[in-house]
Amino acid sequence: MKFFIDTANLAHIEEANDLGILDGVTTNPSLMAKEGIKGEANILKHYADICALVDGDVSAEVLSTDYVSMVEEGKKLAAIHKNIVVKIPMIKDGIKAIKWFTDNGIRTNCTLVFSAGQAILAAKAGAAYVSPFIGRIDDSSWDGIALIEQLAHIFSVQGFNTEILAASIRNPLHIVRSAEAGAHICTCPLDSILGLLKHPLTDIGLAKFLEDAKKM
Ligand code: E4P
Repeated sequence: MKFFIDTANLAHIEEANDLGILDGVTTNPSLMAKEGIKGEANILKHYADICALVDGDVSAEVLSTDYVSMVEEGKKLAAIHKNIVVKIPMIKDGIKAIKWFTDNGIRTNCTLVFSAGQAILAAKAGAAYVSPFIGRIDDSSWDGIALIEQLAHIFSVQGFNTEILAASIRNPLHIVRSAEAGAHICTCPLDSILGLLKHPLTDIGLAKFLEDAKKM
């Protein structure tokens, strides 16, 4: 399974990248706004800065919701760097736009996916990635991991090339369960990635080894 970091924060991206396990980055308008990125020129520059930091796919989301504008906006985003993947919302015009980008050699990430039907449509249109929002599904007392399992089954049976990108990750257990369920990629906040490191027995064991090492 590949690891993406889900942030527009350059320090977090650098820290995850320094671990040597980072395969890419996802952003969304909320994450960009959180970093105070405003105006078209600054937005494009921020994506270029992220691409300069990480050798992997960087999802950049369109802000428009009609087919023609999404195509125009996506073309500009894709022109920033070869690793940019245009992120398109799961709406009717979005599916048309994904098909246009597929036909024109531009990779897409279909976002805001909450059902198998939506994921099948995105895959049919040729999306490189489909992003089911695990945490938001769990927040509404449905089962996000069950959706990953269902998508892994459908995509395998149907031979879809689209990769399942588990998004809206809230904790390290979401990462483990997504891996188990067959997600190809997990996009996670830095805290959830670092949370994978934690086990009290590791800390206790290391303290004991270091203490005993003094007697060697
Ligand atoms: C990433 O592609 C998604 O936009 C992101 O994971 C959504 O996360 P959230 O539900 O925590 O906002």
